[in-house]
Amino acid sequence: MDKGQKFYITTPIYYVNARPHIGHAYTTIVCDAIARRKRMLGYDTFFLTGTDEHGQKVERSATDAGKTPKLFADEISSLYRGLFDRMKISYDDFIRTTEPRHQRGVQELFRRLKVKGFIDKGTYTGQYCVSDELYVDSAGPGAPCPECGNPTETVSEENYFFKLSAFAEKLLEHYQKNPNFIRPETRRNEVIAFVKSGLRDLSISRSTFKWGIPVPRDPNHIVYVWLDALINYCSAIGFGSKNEADQKKFEHYWPADVHMIGKEIIRFHCVYWPAFLMAADLPLPKSVIAHGWLLFEESKMSKTRGNIVRADSVIDVLGNDALRYFLLREVVFGSDGSFSFDAVVQRYNADLANDLGNLASRTLTMITRYFNGSVPYPSPTVARKPSDDQIKEQALATITEFSQLFDEYHLSRALEVAWSLIGSVNKYLVEQEPWIVAEKEGEEDRARLATILYTAAEALRIVTALVHPVIPESTGRIWNQLGLGEISRFDLKDLKWGQLPLGGKLGKVEPVFPRADKSAVERMQQMEQERSTPSTPPSSPAPAGEGARPGQPATQAAHGPAEAAPPPAAPAASAADNKITIDDFLKVELRVGQVKFAEKVKGADRLLRLEVDIGTEVRQLVAGIALAYTPESLIGRKVVIVANLQPRKLRGLESNGMIVAASAGEEGKPVLAGFLEDVPIGAKLK
Ligand code: MSP
Repeated sequence: MDKGQKFYITTPIYYVNARPHIGHAYTTIVCDAIARRKRMLGYDTFFLTGTDEHGQKVERSATDAGKTPKLFADEISSLYRGLFDRMKISYDDFIRTTEPRHQRGVQELFRRLKVKGFIDKGTYTGQYCVSDELYVDSAGPGAPCPECGNPTETVSEENYFFKLSAFAEKLLEHYQKNPNFIRPETRRNEVIAFVKSGLRDLSISRSTFKWGIPVPRDPNHIVYVWLDALINYCSAIGFGSKNEADQKKFEHYWPADVHMIGKEIIRFHCVYWPAFLMAADLPLPKSVIAHGWLLFEESKMSKTRGNIVRADSVIDVLGNDALRYFLLREVVFGSDGSFSFDAVVQRYNADLANDLGNLASRTLTMITRYFNGSVPYPSPTVARKPSDDQIKEQALATITEFSQLFDEYHLSRALEVAWSLIGSVNKYLVEQEPWIVAEKEGEEDRARLATILYTAAEALRIVTALVHPVIPESTGRIWNQLGLGEISRFDLKDLKWGQLPLGGKLGKVEPVFPRADKSAVERMQQMEQERSTPSTPPSSPAPAGEGARPGQPATQAAHGPAEAAPPPAAPAASAADNKITIDDFLKVELRVGQVKFAEKVKGADRLLRLEVDIGTEVRQLVAGIALAYTPESLIGRKVVIVANLQPRKLRGLESNGMIVAASAGEEGKPVLAGFLEDVPIGAKLK
């Protein structure tokens, strides 16, 4: 890479029809982690986010709230910006489509398309989905939108049309020549199939409402909100401006290297957007990456479904890094992933408080205690053992593997690799027992102790640098405690074994991830309930200094630092390995059940309500398998259920147990567990 090579990454711009939720935070966090890594690698990085403020959907939400669209957009946009600031998102610019610089860009694009002969006037009569701001050619009057299921509305108006049909061949050629243009592969195939099925010209103006950017020379029309929105990626970096510095900026950063989007807006980004750019003679973005959805209670988190969780609840209780780590580690990037408060707390305690937190505090506390806080000199010869070299080898391999995986957007796998190094070092400490070696008096023992602690500290340094883009606040603190100063100045390209300065003074050793106690889940749930009660006004972002301080979850106050202080001796190896004992397993009561009744849950496209006979009783279960199984196909089928789960409510229905299914393929399609031989109802699995 040339020094200073540019990297331009964007999030979608978020509709201001409703307040931000964790789904929006997810995309933004993913981009933030990627941007931070690129900066650490020396790229001249530009990270753009912002809000999409025009269109019928926003206009209607404003009317419902009794506000003007502009005032409404101002309020919601500032909630997004406030949340991103609170989350310490490292965006370089935040564009609002109501800004004059954006209006200039939209009108410039419209003019160019017109001049090049790709715009004509016509009449659109057909269906329109306001929720997706999408023309739905395929649906008849009254039909639901094939994308989101919301009712479509019949529209008949004079519009400007873009000659999309002229671009089918060129688009297909572009996809073929640039296999990385659309990722992942499944989405690429979807787009290719869509284009091959034929492209119709696209209406790019509306004339029956006013909330938008006027069409140049024809102010009775406003520009279609998607044409308006997409050009934000260019207008934010100077497109449409007459100012020379802006034009230079545009030339420097455009084309974007990555447009990160949710999978539902792939068509806009991979068909319409490249066609607009081709028509305007502008270069195409290098890649569009579509991630999956964050599900809550088994379906896509969204305002319409009313199953929203806000980022604030997790941040208030566990801190920014807990949310970031959870989302990047738990959701297989590209696939859908489920969010639950329990899972966030479990991940936080297991991976952050236990694995990384213990490694850092044990290693650093022992260096402080036994070497007066100076990084000890490892022995090159006598006090060296093969296990020391194994850690070194694994750390070197981790640098390579983590980098490859992360740069290919296998984010959760990259983190797995990093945590596997953490696990090995924790195990190494357990096996080498430095606290016992420290009690011996011999010179060789002292050298052995130095080698063990140096090895652990150096591996800790490497893993800290690698995962810094994912958990920036806590790794910044660990880096400081290692005596290395400001982590963001570290040049990740040079990361190798042996850079920890020998004799270097450690900083003050303090716990970084205090354990979250049992009340954490309840507190988050309660905050969520309070935030979602309609009487609560939109929560303003907490001013800096209020609520949880960065990296200092609220649980710390409840527990005191002692909770997270390094244990004098090592925890059991099983905890470090993340393995459970047979007793743990036996706590789970798995039973064979037979489905007696099944039906769809109203308003939740993924959920089925089941009545399952488990021998002793018939249980009601709510399961997220409706996309894979019809209710009829399940009646009489024998299934495996977890019988001793605490009941929980989904869509107001109590679910008393969980049905066991494999999660297959990238989409995580559920496949029910079953038996080849016949088994009696109620039989226990062990
Ligand atoms: N305004 C358009 C995008 C225009 S880009 C030129 C839009 N906005 S949106 O607010 O509805 O959604 C924007 C993005 O938010 C999605 O593409 C996705 O990245 C993210 N998400 C919204 N809900 C989500 C989940 N439940 N899960 C994961 N991401 C989600 O579409």
